[in-house]
Amino acid sequence: MTTSKASPTPNIGRDRVRVDGPLKVTGTAPYAYEKAVENPLYLYPLTATIARGKVNNIDASAAEALAGVQLVLTHQNAPRLYVKVDTALYILQNNEIHYRGQYIGAVVADSPEVARHAASLVRLDYDEQPHDAEFRLGHPETFTPKRVNAAKPADSKKGDVEAALATAAHTLDQEYTTPNEHHNPIEPHPIIAIWHEDAGLLPTATRLTLHDSNQGPAFNMLLLPPLLGLLPTQIEILSPYVGGSFGTKGMPHSHMVLAILAAKKLAGRPVKYALTRQQMFKTTGFRPESWQRVRLAADSRGQLTAIAHDAVAPTARLKHFIEQTATPMRTMYAAPNRESSHRGVPLDIAPASFMRAPGEFTGMFALETAMDELAEACGLDPIEFRIRNEPVVDPEDDKPFSTRNLVACLREGAGAFGWDKRQAAGTRQDGEWRYGLGVAAATYPDQHLFHTFARIRFEGGRYKVELQAADIGTGAWTILGQIAADALGVDIGLIDMEIGRSDLPFAMAAGGSMGTYTWGSSIMVAAVKFRDKYGTNPPEGASVRAAGHRPKDFKKFSRHTFGAHFAEVKVSAVTGEVRVTRMLGVYAAGKIINPRTANSQFIGGMTMGISAALHEESYLDPRFGHVVNGDFAGYHIAAHADIADVRALWIDEFDPYFGPTGAKGIGEVSIVGVPAAIGNAIYNATGKRLRDLPFTPDKLL
Ligand code: MOS
Repeated sequence: MTTSKASPTPNIGRDRVRVDGPLKVTGTAPYAYEKAVENPLYLYPLTATIARGKVNNIDASAAEALAGVQLVLTHQNAPRLYVKVDTALYILQNNEIHYRGQYIGAVVADSPEVARHAASLVRLDYDEQPHDAEFRLGHPETFTPKRVNAAKPADSKKGDVEAALATAAHTLDQEYTTPNEHHNPIEPHPIIAIWHEDAGLLPTATRLTLHDSNQGPAFNMLLLPPLLGLLPTQIEILSPYVGGSFGTKGMPHSHMVLAILAAKKLAGRPVKYALTRQQMFKTTGFRPESWQRVRLAADSRGQLTAIAHDAVAPTARLKHFIEQTATPMRTMYAAPNRESSHRGVPLDIAPASFMRAPGEFTGMFALETAMDELAEACGLDPIEFRIRNEPVVDPEDDKPFSTRNLVACLREGAGAFGWDKRQAAGTRQDGEWRYGLGVAAATYPDQHLFHTFARIRFEGGRYKVELQAADIGTGAWTILGQIAADALGVDIGLIDMEIGRSDLPFAMAAGGSMGTYTWGSSIMVAAVKFRDKYGTNPPEGASVRAAGHRPKDFKKFSRHTFGAHFAEVKVSAVTGEVRVTRMLGVYAAGKIINPRTANSQFIGGMTMGISAALHEESYLDPRFGHVVNGDFAGYHIAAHADIADVRALWIDEFDPYFGPTGAKGIGEVSIVGVPAAIGNAIYNATGKRLRDLPFTPDKLL
């Protein structure tokens, strides 16, 4: 098979339909739980019903007597784990209970129904200890974390905020709160664990196969081998299709360990466990609530002289997780005096985890609402106020930006959205409905976590492009082929992508909005290496492997995606109900590889942002330490009727410092600031300022 030397039509930047689309819409994409396995068993968990204490006594006799029950697994008979890589994964190793809902055992049976019924027959009694699951300010155990997530410093300080506040023409000092939110992908976590002991005499002949749904095998492959006392080569993780994630499938959770421990006891038999929707509110992470204070000072011309952002959030005592809530402030606006801080409050609650734009989502709600408030106080249009405070270099570390087109996003969005029709607050009414427009900026950083590798093989006249990666609905299956075809200079029809398996070259997970530019980078480098080595007429079996690459000086730049969100709302003067009638996002996100899948990501982010603005809130009952509205009856997410006219546009941009694709992250910036834009529109409609998410009708009456 030879390929033409003439450069084919570029695929990057062109619309391409999803290659996995037909499988998904015909219901034939092989999702993890549906994988056909021989002779499977079914797991149902035993979970703690107290928030803190010890399991005292377990009476499993009634469960064990039930026909079809194969195993009652508890800390008394569970296999040992090895390295405690993660406190939340280290389950069934003792009788301690750290939060309500924690796994304390499982029943495995021939059918899911028998397993579930048998689990209800297990009698447990507890040695209950006092717990504290109530997030409040001034908690005596409040602490300063060494670092917050993404390894960022907890505090930052430049100049003298207090002095600037004391002498400023305009000041703001307000508190904002955001609630606990639980991510609910359409496919709850599934797992099939198969422990193969029969492969040989050596302990290293043991193999573990996991059919899982995840954001890429990377973090599982870093954490599970030491936890289980296995070599990475002994574990095989298969996750070809993923029914959504939003962060919950980024890191391994304890249900995986539960299924693995059961599978080890039942060596050879596949153990299947699919979490129920209710169980998605217990052990698979959530976005923790926050309390925030923002202080701003500006001179008479609307130039910011000080920005201060303080965040306090609860964290599980068992496993600390502190969002980088007050860090976007370190990049967004110029001001000589600046301060940020993060504090944690340890509670006897379930561990939180990453949920779409963890930190940036939370913090930019407060900062972008505060910016709207101070613009009003200065008598300035909120777009003009932001443009006046646009920094020339990063305001904290003085690095130049790799690319920064926030102003272009604001200007283009203003034109496209009809910003000039915005009226003074509380003046546009039509019968029952008050109308308003609002804007907020968005940002998301480059995290630069670790190297990603890719392999290209020539086999049967086709190019196999292989790396771990994952497509969580983003379009990775589709766009990585586009990148590979252009980098190899071959027809896209000759490319076969291979992703979603642990035996492929190690790659970053689909997280931190890093997928496209890290995976794309390693594919491009491998393609160059492949062509250098084999030219355009490769022999059968040709193969290269390469790590991704960036310009050497990339750390000299402040690297972020930017965007602007515009919302139009109508608010009922009778019921307090908010309708988002129009929403527009304009993004400066580097090179857009595929307009179709990028657009879908952008409008998906805004949809999730509208959902957070209007509905999402998990109520934690401090008396018992659990989420009381843990299902779709009690935890509301946006329905079709909530999502009207949502559009995305983007600025033509190419950022080489994220990698050779020129792409930046797009998965998370599209939710950042969305609730602020909606809240600012509500203010414009009603004259009422909302500082606490979500914007439920009771807050508008
Ligand atoms: Mo995502 S919340 O970066 O896994």
